[in-house]
Amino acid sequence: MDRAEKFIISFSIVVLVLFVTGIIIVAKGAGIDIAECVPSDKTFTEGRLGQLDEHTYQAYYVAKMWAFEPREIEIPLESELDIFLTSKDVVHGFHINEKAVNLMAVPGTINKYRVKFSKKGTYEIVCHEFCGTGHQNMVGKIIVK
Ligand code: CUA
Repeated sequence: MDRAEKFIISFSIVVLVLFVTGIIIVAKGAGIDIAECVPSDKTFTEGRLGQLDEHTYQAYYVAKMWAFEPREIEIPLESELDIFLTSKDVVHGFHINEKAVNLMAVPGTINKYRVKFSKKGTYEIVCHEFCGTGHQNMVGKIIVK
């Protein structure tokens, strides 16, 4: 390898290390963390369960590292559930086991889906999109009584 090439490669590595270190120091100093990104119209910023009528429930889900909020909900048998889903940070997945529900939780947007529960039981919700080190712990429950 030529001396000039060695110099350029070494110089590039030094500049890259300085650049990344600088970004980390400035971000830590300014208290910058991962940006929070709920829907821009602030339709909902926290997870909750509401009821529209006798047979229709509305679940407002906020996905975040690494949990679904609300983590667990209970609804009666034969209920319809309107799911509103958003993310507070990165892209997450939302899959309800034993149901044809497979949504993406995307920051700044709301995904909606209606699902009916005609069988008693506990339906597990899992995140199916790799979202970081706690991805495998990102679960929730829908209990149908
Ligand atoms: Cu959230 Cu994986």
